[in-house]
Amino acid sequence: MKVNGKEYRTIWMEGASVMMIDQNRLPFDFFVFRSENFLTTCDSIRNMTTRGAGAIGAAAGFAMAQAFLAAPVKNRDKFLLQAKETIINTRPTARNLFYAVDLVYEAGLISPKAAYEQAQQIAEKDIADSRAIGKFGSMLINNGDHILTHCNAGWLAFVDYGTALAPIYRSVEDGKNVFVWVDETRPRGQGARLTAWELHNAGIDHRIVPDNAGAWLMSNKRVDLLITGADRIAANGDTANKIGTYEKAIVAKHFGIPLFIAAPTSTIDLTCTTGNDIVIEERSEDEVLYQSGPDESGKINRIRVASPGSQAINPAFDVTPAKFITGIITEKGIIKPKKEEITKLFKGRINS
Ligand code: MRU
Repeated sequence: MKVNGKEYRTIWMEGASVMMIDQNRLPFDFFVFRSENFLTTCDSIRNMTTRGAGAIGAAAGFAMAQAFLAAPVKNRDKFLLQAKETIINTRPTARNLFYAVDLVYEAGLISPKAAYEQAQQIAEKDIADSRAIGKFGSMLINNGDHILTHCNAGWLAFVDYGTALAPIYRSVEDGKNVFVWVDETRPRGQGARLTAWELHNAGIDHRIVPDNAGAWLMSNKRVDLLITGADRIAANGDTANKIGTYEKAIVAKHFGIPLFIAAPTSTIDLTCTTGNDIVIEERSEDEVLYQSGPDESGKINRIRVASPGSQAINPAFDVTPAKFITGIITEKGIIKPKKEEITKLFKGRINS
């Protein structure tokens, strides 16, 4: 997507370095971070310099490729197995991370060049899948629709174009008039900071809303459709996404408003029978207790926004049961969140 008139991907490789838009500095500062080795790329996933299921997947694949490119001759196998272990321990919930590491590791057993090419292919496929999701998803959107989205599943969460925002981008490209309600998505504010920045950049009309405004908006008939992304989808359609998605889903069902999950098949994990098998990441309580942003001089300050002395918990994701989901928009088409339809996508193959 374009930033200041220049085409960017969220993450890419230049030689043996991984380049990524620093999402911790957005929307206040646009900065491209260079990671020269797999350990730094792991740090970037952990500290969310890069984030979002598809971008994490690409980053993990690139990190594995970096490890193959740097592997010493002596104790090579041990080095690579340790590298793999380090990468898969960066974040637990997004399925794409594990999917990408496995594919690149397998390719790397042939040669480092094969690992590099496989990582690049994962990134290219991520973009192609996002475009296809945009095409299918746009068929659900009518001219004038008001769409509510939670968190950021736009191009910043993938290599380019995104998933939940892809149908919106495609609809606008097709000449439809679309309005987006952007949940702020506490505590890290991926909606208020990243989705709003993306939509503003693309000239798409939107408003940021407090996370607890959903029921009010829906009861006042101001939402036609909800579209969110996914971090992992179980075989029965239960879907892990950013914390708060479950609440929106219950409210949407109550008011009879459709909720679609937009995600590539690389986010579906057939080894998770139900959502109960999905590991939910718990992050630092500081993300809840503190907020940061620029003061008038532009300097980023961190301030406490909760009562001193109180502690917090910070589950990063929740699992929306399939019964609250109207459909899943994949790169292969739109399906019901049902085991039979999901299994059909893989033609019986288990993507373990
Ligand atoms: O913790 P993050 O920012 O990596 O969370 C992932 C997300 O951005 C969301 O849950 C998103 O809706 C799905 S990922 C495309």
